Amino acid sequence: MRILIIGASGLLGNDLLGEWGRNEIIPATSRDADIRDIAQVRQLVTHARPDWIILAAAYSDVDGGERNPELAFAVNRDGTKNVAIAANEHGAKLLYISTDYLFDGTSNRPYEPDDPIHPLNVYGMSKAAGELAVREQMKQWVVVRTSWLFGASRTCFPEKILTAADTQSELRVVDDQVGSPTYTRDLAVAIRKPIQADAHGVLNITNTGSCSWFEFAREILHKAGRRTPVFPITTADAARPARRPAYSVLSPAAPAAYGITLRSWHDALDAYLAELRQKGKLR
Ligand SMILES: NC(=O)c1ccc[n+]([C@@H]2O[C@H](COP(=O)([O-])OP(=O)(O)OC[C@H]3O[C@@H](n4cnc5c(N)ncnc54)[C@H](OP(=O)(O)O)[C@@H]3O)[C@@H](O)[C@H]2O)c1
Repeated sequence: MRILIIGASGLLGNDLLGEWGRNEIIPATSRDADIRDIAQVRQLVTHARPDWIILAAAYSDVDGGERNPELAFAVNRDGTKNVAIAANEHGAKLLYISTDYLFDGTSNRPYEPDDPIHPLNVYGMSKAAGELAVREQMKQWVVVRTSWLFGASRTCFPEKILTAADTQSELRVVDDQVGSPTYTRDLAVAIRKPIQADAHGVLNITNTGSCSWFEFAREILHKAGRRTPVFPITTADAARPARRPAYSVLSPAAPAAYGITLRSWHDALDAYLAELRQKGKLR
């Protein structure tokens, strides 16, 4: 099987590369093809001749999207549509990575794949438009919705907390947004399953359990042996440009059908910190 990974230089993309054999994958970054340009995408797909395309490329700056909605929609909606068109033309199947920020956070239970979506910010709206483009263009597709990614290949929330702990006397972190932190290595392993099973439809894949950003930060500091005090604040106190859902936990029911059960985010955090230590990025 030949797998084209678009977005191979990203936080998730880097770990996807590690999970597939070198002879199975064709990694592509924005230098190989800007997904906003259908001619570049067609050329990439023609050259790669993939059985599956994993689209992990995105405009992923949630606050930046509020200042630059044209770019967010150009990449996440139009770019996704271009990839879906090229995939269709070449008979490839498409796995699109999507987000918990499709939801408005008013649910009192984890979100199921067919719950109605209602994004609160431009990023979420542009990703929703990307999902729609995939459904409209493709006969066989998989949408993997995930949340709160962290991994060792690029800057992410745990790394920012550790850097802040070493440079600031105390930290303040939002305590009224709840979600499921997800380790990109675990997600990358899990993504193999729906592809091997020739799946179709929407799947939620996150590490198990949920917490607020404050609880996540407190656990990161504790596990990394940092004593910098951390205090809870509200979303209103944080005054970020983009609105975010107060609750965006995704139900893990669907992936169980493919034999996917991810470990708890606590255990995944241990593994992530061990990876940082092994790479000499954490003392
Ligand atoms: N990060 C999270 O917490 C989170 C949560 C839920 C869902 N997701 C979703 O998970 C996926 C992976 O996210 P991530 O955090 O790994 O993203 P990331 O680290 O920001 O990486 C984004 C990737 O997209 C590529 N890209 C951006 N614009 C492009 C363009 N016009 N043409 C081609 N490639 C382009 C970048 O390539 P270059 O480096 O070459 O520019 C990079 O490889 C995305 O679909 C995101 O929406 C992320």
